[in-house]
Amino acid sequence: MDEEARAQIDVWKYAYGFDAMRVVKCAIELGIPDVFGSRGSPMTLSELSSAVGCPENSLYRIMRFLTHNGIFKKKIISQDPPLFHYSQTPLSRLLTRDNMGLFVLVQAGPSGKQFGLTAEDLRAGKGSGLKPAADEMTMWSSGVVDEAYEKLFRDHMASHGKLGASKVINNCPEVFEGIESLVDVGGNDGTAIGMFVKAFPWIRGINFDLPQVVHEAPAIDGVLHVGGDMFESIPKADAIMLMSVLHDWSDEMCIEILKKCKEAIRTKTGKVIIVEVVIDEEGEEDEYMGARLLVDMMIMIATINGKERTTKEWIRLLNASGFSKYTIKHMRAIESIIEAYP
Ligand SMILES: C[S@@+](CC[C@H](N)C(=O)[O-])C[C@H]1O[C@@H](n2cnc3c(N)ncnc32)[C@H](O)[C@@H]1O
Repeated sequence: MDEEARAQIDVWKYAYGFDAMRVVKCAIELGIPDVFGSRGSPMTLSELSSAVGCPENSLYRIMRFLTHNGIFKKKIISQDPPLFHYSQTPLSRLLTRDNMGLFVLVQAGPSGKQFGLTAEDLRAGKGSGLKPAADEMTMWSSGVVDEAYEKLFRDHMASHGKLGASKVINNCPEVFEGIESLVDVGGNDGTAIGMFVKAFPWIRGINFDLPQVVHEAPAIDGVLHVGGDMFESIPKADAIMLMSVLHDWSDEMCIEILKKCKEAIRTKTGKVIIVEVVIDEEGEEDEYMGARLLVDMMIMIATINGKERTTKEWIRLLNASGFSKYTIKHMRAIESIIEAYP
């Protein structure tokens, strides 16, 4: 691995180190290491789910993160039908309550309400996608975070947009060929669309976000700010971009957003450009896998039903939203680019 890729991966570890700790803490609170300790034998996902009282969907993501980090082992028992089980490692044996589990819980500190993850949350369905859409809420809903944190978060989002846009511009400029108008849905303050318009000056840019967000956005050459709600209607254009937006929402809500995107583009020539993590569970693991799984845990903590999706999950989502074709381009980054066509 070259130095630049190593640095990119390490910076995610520093940024989300607390999240990794919260997940290990939660696994101990759920009693996962203890259940394996008392059974003394491997367990399937459904056995583990019944033993700790946590829905399979979210438990699968947690176990995917823990096995990747050597805390448990996953063994494929059969390919067809696909069957696997989990078993202990020396590390999981150290995390039982009668060994060093309590030590880790104390070091992780008391459970905070904001952006925490508790066994109770998980048992109640957080991260499982099972909660009804009407109750779905992320930190984007007003009043979830205090004003100072919201300001910090917005400033961070602007730099996130800048980093994301430069990865796309440098790795996949061909994505913008033939596009005369582009809407960046959930574009925050317009940083990213401003960069696309500058790099590809034939594009007319629209930055689309919640009214209160675009109200604060600075004027940008070649960019029109439009406030609205992506669940209701999205401005029409040749192409729509969704960068780091869908991972905040459940499948059900993503399908609603994608259907609105489809309505906003032409059937024959339009496309939706999705810049998001794609977890490749089937292929060979690349160097970004650990960072992608860590981001998935951060999303589980920061949202009710958001998640980073596998290739299969993306395909299912696109099909369910009425897209007939798609391509996935991997970049030298944790995110990939999905181009979806009606
Ligand atoms: C994770 S941020 C991504 C920002 C930007 N695309 C980036 O990559 O840095 C998600 C964005 O979606 C916006 N958003 C949330 N709900 C929305 C809605 N209903 N309609 C339009 N935008 C929304 C938020 O305000 C936020 O700017």
